[in-house]
Amino acid sequence: MEKPNKRILSGVQPSGDLHLGNYLGAIKNFVSLQHEYECFFCVVDLHAITVWQDPAMLAQKTREVTAAFIASGIDPDKNTLFVQSQVPQHSQLAWIFSCIARMGWLNRMTQFKDKAGKNSENVSVGLYSYPTLMAADILIYLATHVPVGEDQKQHLELTRDIAQKFNNDFKNDLFPIPEPLILGEAKRVMSLRDGTKKMSKSDPSDYSRIMLSDSKENIIQKIKKAKTDPLPLPENLEDAKKRPEAMNLLTIFAALSNTDAEKVILDYAGKDFSKFKNDLGDLASSKLSPISSEMSKLMNDKNFLDSIINSGKEKAISVADPVLKKVNEIIGFLSR
Ligand code: AMP
Ligand code: TRP
Repeated sequence: MEKPNKRILSGVQPSGDLHLGNYLGAIKNFVSLQHEYECFFCVVDLHAITVWQDPAMLAQKTREVTAAFIASGIDPDKNTLFVQSQVPQHSQLAWIFSCIARMGWLNRMTQFKDKAGKNSENVSVGLYSYPTLMAADILIYLATHVPVGEDQKQHLELTRDIAQKFNNDFKNDLFPIPEPLILGEAKRVMSLRDGTKKMSKSDPSDYSRIMLSDSKENIIQKIKKAKTDPLPLPENLEDAKKRPEAMNLLTIFAALSNTDAEKVILDYAGKDFSKFKNDLGDLASSKLSPISSEMSKLMNDKNFLDSIINSGKEKAISVADPVLKKVNEIIGFLSR
């Protein structure tokens, strides 16, 4: 079996509308990485059902994430865009990995603790074992690199531990130890209402996040209303770091304009937030509106989207199946 040395896999859940955090922390980086790596981008619907999903909405959101990939600039001919549940090899490897991973490893996962909260007796078993499925997503393609937002770093470490333990237990070197690619200025985009909380799909406040589907006016309005402190903009990076809401907006500005936060701070040092927010509103709406109108166009062409998803599935299976066969053989399962 041929072992790639520059292969990417990453996934996005179809569990709600995509927001600026998904775009800056993940999808925007996928777009630049596609030229340098062989890429597999997956809509992870099996991950989404770890919490309740309305069936009709799930199908719609699955197509929507695929449309967002394409509308953001990922070339569907050059890369493999596919839907996780259509490639059963992911689930099969996930079971095997749930026998490799240790309870102690999963007990340390902070995302589970955050998501389960006080309700840990009543959340699904899948929400707990979620990271073993994520490890399978990555390793079934022998992916060497995984672009994600910072919130996924711990899950990536677990993936590396699983790969290592499998290789050690079975005295082989099948799995690469994949590297996280946590890139860009906005590795962790924060809520517009609270600079200490991650921007997320599950925040009850609509004003906490900018959606890819928001209208121009809506984006401008949300940025105008974003929480800030009463001081003018910080004079340097050190000061900015002590002011989470200011730092978040500066980072978003930097990421959208492909520069770094230090440069943006220099441009706006000591100025009023109102001018900065006007500029940021214009910048964000000019970058996001073309994506959202392209997404709407694609969503009206279901046949096109489904043909992309279908050929992605074929390509994904052709790579994943030989790896699963090899895993089965290593473990001692009888061949199919
Ligand atoms: P999810 O929507 O949870 O499937 O996340 C898809 C991708 O977006 C993952 O790579 C996440 O790390 C990334 N992501 C989600 N929220 C944020 C955020 N607030 N800031 C940066 N990246 C994020
Ligand atoms: N767990 C990731 C998230 O919530 C999504 C995901 C699933 C993923 N499988 C993956 C990301 C594999 C990268 C690689 O954001």
